[in-house]
Amino acid sequence: MQIKIAPSILAADFSRMGEALIKCEKSGADLIHCDVMDGSFVAPITFGGQMIKNIRSVTKVPFDVHLMVEHPQTQIKFFADAGADIITVHVEACEKISPDYLRDTLALIKSYGVKCGAVINPDVSEEKLYPVLDICDMAVVMSVFPGYGGQKFINSVLPKVTAIRKQAAKIGKPDLDIEIDGGITESTAPLAAAAGANVLVAGSYLFKAADMAAAIDGLKKL
Ligand code: DX5
Ligand code: ZN
Repeated sequence: MQIKIAPSILAADFSRMGEALIKCEKSGADLIHCDVMDGSFVAPITFGGQMIKNIRSVTKVPFDVHLMVEHPQTQIKFFADAGADIITVHVEACEKISPDYLRDTLALIKSYGVKCGAVINPDVSEEKLYPVLDICDMAVVMSVFPGYGGQKFINSVLPKVTAIRKQAAKIGKPDLDIEIDGGITESTAPLAAAAGANVLVAGSYLFKAADMAAAIDGLKKL
C-alpha cells in the first residue's frame, strides 16, 4: 500500500503555525495531524476548534484531528465546523461512558460529512476496534502513550497492526487506512509499514529534520 505521511503539528513552533503548515504542504505531507488534548484524558492541554478553524485556510492538505479528550461526542460539532477532514476518537474515552458510545460518536462524525476513526492505546487490545471497523475510515494504533511528542516507539504494538489489517480484509475492507501514531523515525517507519500500517504520524522526527521534504520522502520510500 502507498504510505501516507501525517506530520503532527504538536511538534511545530506554535508562534509560527501558519508557516509550519505551508512547510508541511510543500514537503509533501498527505495529512496534517492535529493533536487535541483536554487536560483530563491526557494531562496536557493543546488547542481546540478555534485554533483549527483559524489555521484551516492556510493549506488544502486534509486535517486529521486526533481527539485525546473525555466525552468526545460533545466536541464533534466544534471540530467538524472548524474544517476537520477526519476526526478520530479514543476507544478508552468512549467505553467508560456506555457500550454504544463509540459507535454513536463515529456515526455522529459521519453525519457531518467528516471521515471517522477509532484509536487504541498501546495497552488496549485491537479487538476493541473490531465491532466498529465497518464504520471506520481509519483505525489508529498508538505506538506511544498519548500526551507527549518525542517519546520512544513501543515495538510490541506491531502485531496489533497486523491483526487489524487481517480483520479489515476479512470484512471486505483490505485497503482500510491504518494509522500508527508516536515515535515514528526512519528506523521505526519500516517496521510499522511491514506490520500493515499505511498512515504514519510523525511529529518530532519531521520538525527536527534539516530538510522536511527529504525526510517525508525517505519515510514514504522505506
Ligand atoms: C501523542 C500524539 C502524537 C505525537 C507524535 O500524544 O498523539 O501524535 O504528536 O509525536 P512524535 O512523532 O514526536 O512521537
Ligand atoms: Zn496524535
